[in-house]
Amino acid sequence: MIKLRLIIEEDRELLFGWRNLPEIIENSLSQKGVSWEEHDHWFSKCLSEMFFSCLPFIIVYKRKLIGHIRFEKRNDALCEVHIYLLGKYRDRKLGSEALEQGIEEVKKVWPGIVRIKACVQEDSYEGANFFMEHNFLAENAEYEKCWVFFRLLNR
Ligand SMILES: CC(C)(COP(=O)(O)OP(=O)(O)OC[C@H]1O[C@@H](n2cnc3c(N)ncnc32)[C@H](O)[C@@H]1OP(=O)(O)O)[C@@H](O)C(=O)NCCC(=O)NCCS
Repeated sequence: MIKLRLIIEEDRELLFGWRNLPEIIENSLSQKGVSWEEHDHWFSKCLSEMFFSCLPFIIVYKRKLIGHIRFEKRNDALCEVHIYLLGKYRDRKLGSEALEQGIEEVKKVWPGIVRIKACVQEDSYEGANFFMEHNFLAENAEYEKCWVFFRLLNR
């Protein structure tokens, strides 16, 4: 059983290290690592906007920190999800648990949200399968350089 905990200041370096791991870069939309300056700015923004427009969590499994899931509010009705697990924890349904728990948090914190968007890097069949398995529907979005999925929230 996984748990989600909100990020804290002490996670700044942890998330920088994770974001630059080859196994995370490989599935990222940019396909590139990030500099400390970029990360530092992004992380501070994440902390300062927490609950207003960002819900960022560390995924915890048996007291180990195994990945990150984050919801970013795009407008009053729509938010976007980003999720990754460290390689050795994948394919064990832990991502599924994290996604569903995260969505429950979104419903509590942002009751107005009715749609969740996910963008998946074009080569990532695992990512695409993952979201489709969780009732996300693919949308033909030619203007985006990624696969786009949406899930409607039933309350
Ligand atoms: C996407 C990710 C979070 C899924 O978490 P996970 O714990 O590995 O996935 P689960 O074990 O919960 O699998 C759920 C479903 O996802 C799909 N899936 C997961 N891993 C897959 C793989 N290697 N190949 C194909 N489909 C896969 C399957 O449909 C699977 O259902 P099934 O086991 O009944 O076939 C994880 O693989 C990951 O961190 N990937 C890299 C980052 C990424 O691509 N993030 C998505 C874009 S934001």
